[in-house]
Amino acid sequence: MASPYLLSVSSILTLLALTSAQKCPLQFDGRIPSTFTPTSFDAANAFFSQSNVLGQGLKFSQLIQLPSITPSLFDTATVPVGVTISDKSIFAPSADNVQTGFRRAELLPASNSGTDASTAGVKTLHFSVMKDGARPLNLSHEYQLVFLESNDFSTNQLVLKTGTVIGAGAGDPDTLQLFGNVNESPPKVLFSTPFQAGVFHNFGVMLDFDKLTSQVFFSTGTTALKAVTQALANDVSGQGQFHFGVLKKGIGGNNIVKDGVQEAGIDEGIIFGGIFEEDSSAGCVSLSP
Ligand SMILES: *[C@@H]1O[C@H](CO)[C@@H](O)[C@H](O)[C@H]1NC(C)=O
Repeated sequence: MASPYLLSVSSILTLLALTSAQKCPLQFDGRIPSTFTPTSFDAANAFFSQSNVLGQGLKFSQLIQLPSITPSLFDTATVPVGVTISDKSIFAPSADNVQTGFRRAELLPASNSGTDASTAGVKTLHFSVMKDGARPLNLSHEYQLVFLESNDFSTNQLVLKTGTVIGAGAGDPDTLQLFGNVNESPPKVLFSTPFQAGVFHNFGVMLDFDKLTSQVFFSTGTTALKAVTQALANDVSGQGQFHFGVLKKGIGGNNIVKDGVQEAGIDEGIIFGGIFEEDSSAGCVSLSP
């Protein structure tokens, strides 16, 4: 049995790991070099899939923006990347699954196959999100900006939403809400914060795929992250793929994937920064670069 002395040493080590700026081992890195152009996203690259998720017949270069703005907290030598949607953002993963109810475009980490180590052990997912001032969202709709979709496509174990979340109570739609597994009824909001204009919102989410918990770290601008929740029970089992982008849901209809109403003339976007995942199995979490 561990003595109280040993326990206290291990908690001190954990505390040190959480508070000192350091490099934790990386699982994947989606931080984009400044040499990248939108066409760089059309070919196989070290950062994101060149083939998913985007409208049928489109190329990523038609929807990626590389805005000249101050980079996010963890983009010390890398640049923000904007993801946009239009009327053409209709994803069709197969001939009988043309997703006319959605308008969507998402970046998927290149190494994230659905069964790789990014959804095993203990990992911390990092990302920053900012509004695209020139391409505002329509907050009458629900949007998914970041999510983990299970490998059998049966659920999202973690989803950052904004806008009018279908099935949720009234509230300011101009809010970032981080939900746990959406197959829970009702899905649990792990953390929420106003979606401010002109500033990056920085998230770290420690995902324990063994204990089935999620702990949220958050800050804005270039402030270091701090824990805003404990490790909360959340069923993150089922592996899968991380998505970073804009998935706009339609309004009404019987089948959200196919029937939801989408008005024409869409020109909307979200800016991302500092997308990466680190290995936290030894307690390491980066709160600042
Ligand atoms: C926002 O979406 C609603 C519902 O689809 C639509 O009626 C409205 O015209 C849209 N507003 C703008 C500014 O596009």
